[in-house]
Amino acid sequence: MNSELEARAALRDLQALARQMSLYPTGHPSVGEALLHGEASLEKLASEGDGEAVITFLGDSIYLGRRLLPHASLEFSALLRTMQSRGIESITLTSPISGGDVADLGAFVAGLSGDVPAERTIRLNESPFSRSELETAKSGGLRRSYGRSLDVLRGMAASIESGDDFDLSGAAWAVEQLVEQTISQPSAALLLSTMKSHDEYTFFHSVNVCILSIALGRLISLPDDQMAPLAMGALLHDIGKVRVEPSILQFPGRLDPAQWRQIKLHPQEGAAAILAASAPYQEIAATVAFEHHARYDGAGYPAAGRRERDLHFYSRLVATSDTYDAITTRRSYRRAETPNRALHVLLNGAGSMYDPDFVRAFIEMVGVYPPGSLLTLGDGSTAMVTKPAEAAGDLPDVVLVRMADGSYPDHPVPWSLEDQEVVDQVLPEQAGVDPPALLEQAGVIVTTV
Ligand SMILES: [Fe+2]
Repeated sequence: MNSELEARAALRDLQALARQMSLYPTGHPSVGEALLHGEASLEKLASEGDGEAVITFLGDSIYLGRRLLPHASLEFSALLRTMQSRGIESITLTSPISGGDVADLGAFVAGLSGDVPAERTIRLNESPFSRSELETAKSGGLRRSYGRSLDVLRGMAASIESGDDFDLSGAAWAVEQLVEQTISQPSAALLLSTMKSHDEYTFFHSVNVCILSIALGRLISLPDDQMAPLAMGALLHDIGKVRVEPSILQFPGRLDPAQWRQIKLHPQEGAAAILAASAPYQEIAATVAFEHHARYDGAGYPAAGRRERDLHFYSRLVATSDTYDAITTRRSYRRAETPNRALHVLLNGAGSMYDPDFVRAFIEMVGVYPPGSLLTLGDGSTAMVTKPAEAAGDLPDVVLVRMADGSYPDHPVPWSLEDQEVVDQVLPEQAGVDPPALLEQAGVIVTTV
């Protein structure tokens, strides 16, 4: 385990501790257990960092020492906001961490106490780093909207699981932000939509499908007042998966008929949950959730036998973005495919699985080398596409992420494909790069607001 993973574990345990402390009284077994986990993971983080570790919460980013924790701002967006609302900019941990300090920290973060940890093995706002020393990640509204959309989905999934009522106003607000951001920065939004999470596959996938669907809606000149309902349908299309057992969703092999039956229920389950919630855009979102696996030729589920003219326009659009994002993501039962390969799958299914007009529009939108593509160049170096080509015949914008000699630059380097031959397209593991980290490091390129 490296320190980055330990930092994530520590943040996760701190988040869980604050939650348990706000739910249960001191002395409750759940609080006791969360305290033990928190103490163990904070201690591990500090002791393996030469006895000290500093976590900084700055803007939309989380840092360990001077290093940005890629992806953490999305995974811990709720914790990041809590920290900011409690005025915590940094946490300095010194080994050995005292259990009393962990309890004080949990109570402080949960808002139950104004007392900072007394024994000073955990210190707040005493970071030795100045802001200028931290790697800059110019994060903006787009990343924030992505994070809030994830939070909305997390909250909604928890409500569905516990049978609580929920309304869609939070989701409506989140998609309106995403629509605005995606329209004002389409290239950055397409690049951000390549974010993946193995642990929270469905949530990240849903936000990605939402961004791709908004961008596609824009390309086909969908009127402004139709963008938010379309985005709502896209964001919630898979919400019914909350009802499917996680062991089935992550099953690493072929599903048996009983498992398939459960998977195939998620469109109905999703539509029912959305209809049981309160407006806005509820009917249209329920329709998209219900129809997103119905094929253009009338096959698919659960609306088998219907023809394309019966399927809602939004359902056919969302099915296209859904397929693209799903194929480019690694799952427990299959590897990820390159963006280019995903376009071939869409093309092969155009007219049978997918609406050919949307497939054509999608390819026009992302180009031959979609954002996030990793290209092996003639000299052996690897470049990542950050912006699709403006017009047919133009070249996409790229950054160099792996040098010809196999070494890695400290930061992605803006590069040109001029005079370069693209010899192959590879997956992140083949290139030895971590696209979420690259995306955040390339923050200047990713977000300009
Ligand atoms: Fe689905």
